[in-house]
Amino acid sequence: MNNATQLTPALEVKNITKTFTLHQQQGVAYTVLDDFSFSLNRGECLVLNGPSGQGKSTALKILYANYLPDSGEVWFHFNNHSVELYSSNTHQVVYLRENHIGYVSQFLRVIPRVSALDIVAEPLISQGFDESASRDNAAELLTRLNIPEKLWSLSPYTFSGGEQQRINIARGFIKPVPFLFLDEPTASLDEKNKQVVLELINEFKQNGTAVVGIFHDADIRQDLADKIIDL
Ligand SMILES: Nc1ncnc2c1ncn2[C@@H]1O[C@H](COP(=O)(O)OP(=O)(O)O)[C@@H](O)[C@H]1O
Ligand SMILES: [Mg+2]
Repeated sequence: MNNATQLTPALEVKNITKTFTLHQQQGVAYTVLDDFSFSLNRGECLVLNGPSGQGKSTALKILYANYLPDSGEVWFHFNNHSVELYSSNTHQVVYLRENHIGYVSQFLRVIPRVSALDIVAEPLISQGFDESASRDNAAELLTRLNIPEKLWSLSPYTFSGGEQQRINIARGFIKPVPFLFLDEPTASLDEKNKQVVLELINEFKQNGTAVVGIFHDADIRQDLADKIIDL
């Protein structure tokens, strides 16, 4: 870590390359990202655009250290510090993810027997926030996202796709963060809930969060994007 000035962007991605090698298929290798770079300021939203299979989710997973790139750098600048993801140790990466990054994956990873309310409250509780206040915040978000109260105490295991996605969204938006990564968060939502998610994203942007997102709907891309990269 070193000091960064106020003028540096929030997020800098430099020359990322990612090649997958298919060991089950004669070791065929193919490059999904080649020299992928961008920089993003606080409060801006970058939209990753392009047809299915072009590497949008791969790019987002690399920003969240779910996939290791072959080469390149990912710099996070916040609170007068700079952190480069791939020269950090595991402890630093976990700390960064738990405290400073929100990530909404395309699908909810359902944990059996854990209630919807607790899944949503968990990122706050694990940061040491008061449990009952964390559940109050979770309840507020679930209300905004139109999840009926009778579902809050149930495991989302049996929920519909759209309900599971809203639990996932509530979990991703429960803590204020300088960085937010969204992989098609509105893909299985109705119009009313899409608008709620749009409002939530805009609130985070107004609070200075740098957002990188993949969005199914052209009107949502239009509404949110400060920058667009076509992959
Ligand atoms: N873990 C993986 N192993 C092998 N190939 C992968 C893996 N993850 C993604 N891919 C491949 O990389 C390409 C881009 O995938 P993805 O990033 O999911 O695209 P998008 O999100 O733009 O639809 C696809 O051809 C996909 O099959
Ligand atoms: Mg994808």
